[in-house]
Amino acid sequence: TTVALVLAGGTGSRLYPASRSTRPKQFLPLLGETTLLERTVDRASFADHVVVSTRPELEADVRALAPDAEVVVEPAGKDTGPALAYATHRIGELHGTDAVVVVLPSDHTVGDDAAFGETLERGARVAHQTGRLVAFGVDPTRPETGYGYIEPGSDHGAFFDLDAFHEKPDAETAERYIDSGYLWNAGMFAWGVEPFRAAALDSPLAPLVRALDDGHVERGFEAVEETSVDYAVMERVTDAAVVPLDVRWDDLGSWDALARLLSGDDEGNVVHAGDGVGSAGGDAERPSQSEDAATDDGDDFDERALFVDSADNVVVSDGPHVSLAGVDGLAVVAWDDRVLVVPKAEAQRVRDVVSLLKEQG
Ligand code: GDD
Ligand code: MG
Repeated sequence: TTVALVLAGGTGSRLYPASRSTRPKQFLPLLGETTLLERTVDRASFADHVVVSTRPELEADVRALAPDAEVVVEPAGKDTGPALAYATHRIGELHGTDAVVVVLPSDHTVGDDAAFGETLERGARVAHQTGRLVAFGVDPTRPETGYGYIEPGSDHGAFFDLDAFHEKPDAETAERYIDSGYLWNAGMFAWGVEPFRAAALDSPLAPLVRALDDGHVERGFEAVEETSVDYAVMERVTDAAVVPLDVRWDDLGSWDALARLLSGDDEGNVVHAGDGVGSAGGDAERPSQSEDAATDDGDDFDERALFVDSADNVVVSDGPHVSLAGVDGLAVVAWDDRVLVVPKAEAQRVRDVVSLLKEQG
């Protein structure tokens, strides 16, 4: 039995202010008409069952967007480590302990759904046949600091040994990993219920796993620290495998991703209207906006943004008109009554903004 486990309990803090804790990124129609969560559930159709994992605050929205899926709600959002320990345990109860779980985050876009499904099925087979935890590896195209990196080892045909896993390195280290032929961790995994339990018992998730065995779900969540599965399990496990994922893939986790996925004007400025229609503001036919900005009639410009001597910016607005002059490489987001400005190259730092806002209440 193959069970697709869709992760939909994150707060999407790096997409603040469009993403707020009650309306995280997986519920936004970010690129297209449907939400990221709906598209992920569609993509999970290769599996025998689809389970969506979320935290209590988001349960109602998840049920509304994924009416045909089973929903597993952890007692408290403590990141993907505890979430996956709990959901995997529940899948063992619901579908048997020899089920193979295929984990799908709900903040991704992929190029080719059919090829994607085939790769995931291959990963599930490897997990089933070898009893190993399986990660999916993508060829890196830039020293992204928001991803995990995988050092591939011996080639076994359908998979490679996973020799080492490093979550979210700094930029310099990421460069080094790329030069050494490491892969990006796609954030998707395949594992058997029992092998994952064994690996989690040998990790900071152990108190939770033991509590789950005794039927103490709440107590287990109180005892376990907030941690992602990447740090808690994948960096620790010694006999994991990696299956290459060879389709266009992106994590829509931060504002620079949106800029990568939409086409910009001649100056590389991208405009996104917050209504979910994924159109770039400067389409290819339109003459360069920046050059003539000072003299042109305003009607020629995209209704959301104006650029004067500015290049490689991304503007996201759900209403207000935004003007940029003499700045490069920025993400400017105007959403509801909030405005965020961050260099695109430092888009991961939005997480720090959100933590600080939370501290200040
Ligand atoms: N149920 C539940 N509970 N889901 C959660 C929770 C939680 O507490 N926290 C996050 N999620 C969900 C998010 O909604 C998302 O779909 C998925 O788990 C991954 O969380 P992210 O916060 O987006 O992780 P990331 O992008 O920083 O890093 C992961 O993905 C990268 C690739 O996209 C890691 O696995 C990296 O190693 C990887 O490169
Ligand atoms: Mg992500």
